[in-house]
Amino acid sequence: MALNIVIMAAGKGTRMKSARPKVLHRLGGISLLQHVLNTCVPLQAARTVVITGHEAEAVEASASGEGLAFVRQVPQLGTGHAIQQAVPALDGRATTTLILNGDVPLIRADTAAALARACGGEKLALLTIELADATGYGRILRDAAGAVRGIVEHKDANPAQRSLREVYTGMMAAPTAALKRWVMALKNDNAQREYYLTDIVAMAVAEGVPVVATQPDSETEVLGVNSPVQLADLERRFQRAGAEALMEAGVRLADPARLDVRGELRCGSEVEIDVNCVFEGRVSLGDGVHIGAHCVIRNAEIGAGAEIQPFTHIDGAKIGPKATVGPFARLRPGAELGAEVHIGNFVEVKNSTLAAGAKANHLAYLGDATVGERVNYGAGSITANYDGAHKHRTVIGADVHVGSNCVLVAPLTLGDGVTVGAGSTVSKDVPAGKLVVARAGQTIIEGWQRPTKAKKA
Ligand code: UD1
Ligand code: MG
Repeated sequence: MALNIVIMAAGKGTRMKSARPKVLHRLGGISLLQHVLNTCVPLQAARTVVITGHEAEAVEASASGEGLAFVRQVPQLGTGHAIQQAVPALDGRATTTLILNGDVPLIRADTAAALARACGGEKLALLTIELADATGYGRILRDAAGAVRGIVEHKDANPAQRSLREVYTGMMAAPTAALKRWVMALKNDNAQREYYLTDIVAMAVAEGVPVVATQPDSETEVLGVNSPVQLADLERRFQRAGAEALMEAGVRLADPARLDVRGELRCGSEVEIDVNCVFEGRVSLGDGVHIGAHCVIRNAEIGAGAEIQPFTHIDGAKIGPKATVGPFARLRPGAELGAEVHIGNFVEVKNSTLAAGAKANHLAYLGDATVGERVNYGAGSITANYDGAHKHRTVIGADVHVGSNCVLVAPLTLGDGVTVGAGSTVSKDVPAGKLVVARAGQTIIEGWQRPTKAKKA
C-alpha cells in the first residue's frame, strides 16, 4: 500500500518557554521530530512531508531522512490549515495519507502502520484513546450504534460532550484524494477561529465514507510534549523502556531508574552497570564489562572484561580487554588502550595509544603520545605536546619507566627500556636502555638556619 506521511511541526510551543522550536527539544538525545521521522522509516512512505512554520529553517536543517519534503505554513491558522499547505506535496498515487505530530515522539511504527492499514485508502481512520482526564482534547462523538460521527474540540464542546473520555490523539489516516477535497472545504467558524482538521470527520460521515478508530498499545505512544514537565515525563518513560530492554537482554542494572542512554548502547553478556551512568552516541560494551557509578561514556568501544571505575569520563575512546580505568579518569577522543592497560585517578589521555600492559595510575597527562607495552608512567608526569602553535608527538618505547613528576617535551622519542629519573624535564631523544636525569642536582647548604621572629621586649 503506497503511503504519504504528513508530520505537523509548525507550532511554536509557547508553553515550553524556550527560544528553541518545540520539535527540536531533545528526548533521549535526539529531537522530538527526529524520533517521529525515525519511526516512519519502516513504513516506507512514497513521500514524507514535514510542515514547518515557527523557526522553519532550523527545523528543516535538523531533520534527516530519505525523500523528505518540507512545506511552510505561515501564519499558522490551525491543523486543517496546516494540511491544506501539504496538499500540493502529496503523492496522488499513494492512496493513504497518514498524519502524525512532530511533538508526539513515542508513537510506535506498528501502531502507525495499523492506523494506515485501517484506512486502506478507503476509510477515515482515527487513532483514539480513553483518558481518565480528557481536558483539552478533541472528544470522539459516536452514535447509539457506536459509529463515529465527529470530533468536537474541548473549547467548542458542551458539558455532555466534555464528559466523554474517548479522545482524538491528533493522528489519523485518510484516503488521499478525499483528504485533499475535505481540507480545502474547511471553515473556521469555531471558538478558536481556526481551521480544524478534526472537522473532516463530519464531512466523511456526510459523504458516507466509513470512519473507524484504532487504539495504541499504551498511552505513552500518544503523549505530546507541550511543557518542560511533559518533556521530562516522556524522557523518564523512554529511558525506562530502554532500561527494560537492556535487562531483558541480560544486562544487570543496579537501578533502571538511574540510567540514561542518549544514543545506542550495545552490550555483551555479563555486563553490569552501576547507578547514574550516562551513555551518549554509540557505545559498545564487551562481555563481562563492569561500569562503576557516575560514569559518562560517549562514542566508545570497551573490550571484554574491562573495568570502568566510578566517576570516569570517556569520549571517543577505544579500550582493550581487561583494561581498568578510573576512578576519576578522563579519556578524550583518540585514546586507544590495549589489553590490560591501567589508567588511574586523575589521569587524562588524549589522542594517544597505550600498548598492552602499560600503566598510568595517578595524576598524569598523555596527549599525542604512542606508549609501548608495559610502560610505567609515573605519578604527576605529563607530555608537553603543545608549543603554543603546533602539537607534537611523544613516542615512548616498550618497558620504559617514567618516574614521578616528569615533563616530556615533544617532539620526543624515548627508546625501549629507558628509565627517566623523577622530576626530569626531558626535551632530547633518549637511546634505548639508558637512564636519563634532567633536573638540578641536589645541594645541601651547611650552616644554614631558619629565620626566627624577633621577640618583643
Ligand atoms: C489537536 C486536535 C485535538 C486533539 C489534540 C491531540 C485539532 C483541531 N485538534 O488539538 O482534537 O485532541 O490535537 O493532541 O486538530 N500545528 C501546525 N499548524 C497549526 C496548528 C498546529 O502545524 O496551525 C501542529 C502543532 O505544532 C502540533 C499539532 O499540529 O504539532 C497539533 O496542534 P495543537 O495546537 O497542539 O492542537 P490541539 O489544540 O492540541
Ligand atoms: Mg496539542
